[in-house]
Amino acid sequence: MSNTGAGIVVIGSGSAAPTTLLNNDQLSQVVETSDEWIATRTGIRARRLVGPEGSLSAIASQAAQQAITMAGLTAQDIDLIVLATSTPDDLFGTAGKIQGEIGATRAVAFDLTAACSGFVFGLVTVAQFLRTGVYRNAVLIGADVLSRWVDWSDRGTCVLFGDGAGAVVLQRTEERDRLLGFELCSDGSLNHTLNLAYQGTAHPLTSDVTISQGQYQPITMNGREIYRFAVAKVPEVISKSLFRAQLTVEDLDWLLLHQANQRIMDAVAQRLKLPPEKVLSNLAKYGNTSAASIPLALDEAVREGKVKAGDKIAIAGFGAGLNWGAAIIEWGLV
Ligand code: ACO
Repeated sequence: MSNTGAGIVVIGSGSAAPTTLLNNDQLSQVVETSDEWIATRTGIRARRLVGPEGSLSAIASQAAQQAITMAGLTAQDIDLIVLATSTPDDLFGTAGKIQGEIGATRAVAFDLTAACSGFVFGLVTVAQFLRTGVYRNAVLIGADVLSRWVDWSDRGTCVLFGDGAGAVVLQRTEERDRLLGFELCSDGSLNHTLNLAYQGTAHPLTSDVTISQGQYQPITMNGREIYRFAVAKVPEVISKSLFRAQLTVEDLDWLLLHQANQRIMDAVAQRLKLPPEKVLSNLAKYGNTSAASIPLALDEAVREGKVKAGDKIAIAGFGAGLNWGAAIIEWGLV
């Protein structure tokens, strides 16, 4: 391992979604809602759900394997695996299981939690390991199974979420750095607006030692607050990232936002004065898949031939924390 790293380039992508599909009409048998309400307020038409036999690691491994293949590498070439997730199969972490499943025996693997900003935070984290020359090839996975944690009787939240996984391979390059600029932010004063919180009750062990035992509670969200936050902060963080990259909005080929709500995506694009045809969206098919949503949409756009080598993409995530962040990348090697 030399210390001569200069930059990073994203050279492969992959994605996987569970086969079980729940469309809005089916969901209206679960809660009082309608396809019309969900589609007009959010743009979502269906979502994929992991069943009792499925796991986060299974879809994440599939996505990672696809990304490695597209990159023209083998699992043995991978030095680092970072799994961005808030819904691990195991609270001790699931990246290690994925490392074993794909046979990346040389790789160190760990989880990173930043909710719906997880992929962007993960991208910047992985880039540091590559830029410093510590590692050459890394897999970044964004994967979530929020269906496990949604209150399926709360129509205000259950209509929004779905399960999925996406992955990219990042490689150190001695040429130009294709992570052109980034900006990450947190505001803990708004932490209470979106939670998947642990709740415990007192459990005395001895006469003077009491611990807490309990479990995680379903997702709670102040939808309006999150909406306002996203529409205000996301254009700002993209503009800052563009400034760092010494680029302007006109230089962008694509805008790829966390797929939470079509109205948020439209409003952000409008504020940035980006035409709708530059906005990548597959939210209608998958709903909000949290850390998976960006790489899931990216992989689809790459495989459809929309995103081509040399394209400049503004990527932005936002969500629980509250965290938000953006990165400007140039896709692939030209
Ligand atoms: N079907 C039918 N009616 C509904 C539903 C539903 N699924 N959900 C709420 N309603 C009703 C409400 O009860 C309310 O009725 P009332 O006026 O009689 O009280 C009415 O619709 C309006 O409810 P609001 O919650 O005010 O609806 P709003 O227009 O704000 O839309 C939504 C809600 C879609 C959640 C919106 O606030 C939003 O998208 N916020 C952003 C949320 C988000 O993106 N979260 C994820 C980002 S972070 C992350 O990814 C983890």
